[in-house]
Amino acid sequence: MIAMSAEGSALQPWVESPAPDTKNVGLRGVPVADTMVSDVDGQGGRLIYRGYDIRDLAERSTYEEVVYLLIYQVLPTASELATFGARLAEGRALSPALVNMIRALHPETPTMAALQSMVAALAAFDPFPGDAGVQAERERAVDLVAKTAGLVAAWHRIHRRLDPVGPSPHLSHAADFLRMVHDAEPDAELARELDIALILHADHSMNASTFTARAVASTRASLYASASAALGALSGDLHGGANARVMEMLQQVGSPDNAERFVREAFASGGRVMGMGHAVYRTDDPRAVILREMSRRAGEARGDPVWYRTTERIEKVTRQVFRETKQADIYPNVDMYSASLYHVIGLPTDLFTPVFAISRVAGWSAHVIEERFAEAADKPQLYRPASEYVGRYCGPESCAYEPPEARS
Ligand SMILES: CC(C)(COP(=O)(O)OP(=O)(O)OC[C@H]1O[C@@H](n2cnc3c(N)ncnc32)[C@H](O)[C@@H]1OP(=O)(O)O)[C@@H](O)C(=O)NCCC(=O)NCCS
Repeated sequence: MIAMSAEGSALQPWVESPAPDTKNVGLRGVPVADTMVSDVDGQGGRLIYRGYDIRDLAERSTYEEVVYLLIYQVLPTASELATFGARLAEGRALSPALVNMIRALHPETPTMAALQSMVAALAAFDPFPGDAGVQAERERAVDLVAKTAGLVAAWHRIHRRLDPVGPSPHLSHAADFLRMVHDAEPDAELARELDIALILHADHSMNASTFTARAVASTRASLYASASAALGALSGDLHGGANARVMEMLQQVGSPDNAERFVREAFASGGRVMGMGHAVYRTDDPRAVILREMSRRAGEARGDPVWYRTTERIEKVTRQVFRETKQADIYPNVDMYSASLYHVIGLPTDLFTPVFAISRVAGWSAHVIEERFAEAADKPQLYRPASEYVGRYCGPESCAYEPPEARS
């Protein structure tokens, strides 16, 4: 490559300025876009959605308010909130065609894979196909948030050979999701516990699934394409899949007394303790702090404290062993205590990661809208990072192609 010299006079061979070696650290700390959606303060242990601290939102708001805030950029008035709640309830309903598509999936399909394919299929049911304006995209986003809960609940029942349950306009998104799963209205406390969990998972700046959603949106692919790609990213064990892995770990460990041996063995074999550690937080993850207390209370209130206590012991020992072996601190992340919480509130483990998705789809949507429509935000037209080719050449030239029959 050649480029103008600094003086602009002569063409010089292009010399790459030495870039920091970020290639094996997954772009840690490399800003790729501006965002007005959320801020993660990794040193201070704070998470902000459009200016509001999640600790306030978890204490005082509802998931509906948070979705509105993320998608419309402001908190709703009382009447806007009432209309919005009704709109979400309406959107949770699935058409017979969608239900038939769910029925056509093999019952052994992993729930996240089923959800990913159904979200991609929503493109076929878009009520405003071809409308590329921001209002239409917001409408799409609201419908997507609503439908994601409807799809997870319907899949849960259909693959257990039960009939899906339609939405109720009188319930919150969290309460209605539980009702559509269990075919029974949850008590107010249970519904609020899930509501808070949904608030806490709704966005988290440029995490792997959000980055995926934004990269797809930057190609001008649809919201459904972005969200289904993000669902694939979320499903992995190092991301949203971790909450289900934490539950499996808790079942394997069984009681606080076995925690130390489990953790020491995990470290000795080079394994990772699921639910511990974070790419950004270097202090307590504020979501984990809230979920820890919720898990403790929920376990005690339901006479089933072993899951909380086992998690707490695993956390303590992991911190101790991490300090011994790496001379550093490690903290629980959002998945550590959501697992025991979800378990004691009666959610099956295969719904843990989908519940994460039911919430995070609001954040993905807000980021996709920002990627597509926020003119002021500094972001690439199209994400296109570089790679260094370390594969083979045949000498200075590329390799000579030979037809299959000539190959030895
Ligand atoms: C989330 C996670 C991927 C972040 O990883 P990361 O950014 O690579 O973390 P770091 O680079 O700061 O890791 C530093 C060291 O801590 C170790 N480490 C990080 N998380 C660990 C864990 N949960 N258990 C044991 N060791 C861990 C790494 O192996 C690394 O060790 P090394 O330097 O000897 O190679 C990682 O903490 C992890 O795998 N956690 C478990 C999965 C999980 O809970 N995911 C949900 C995230 S919200």
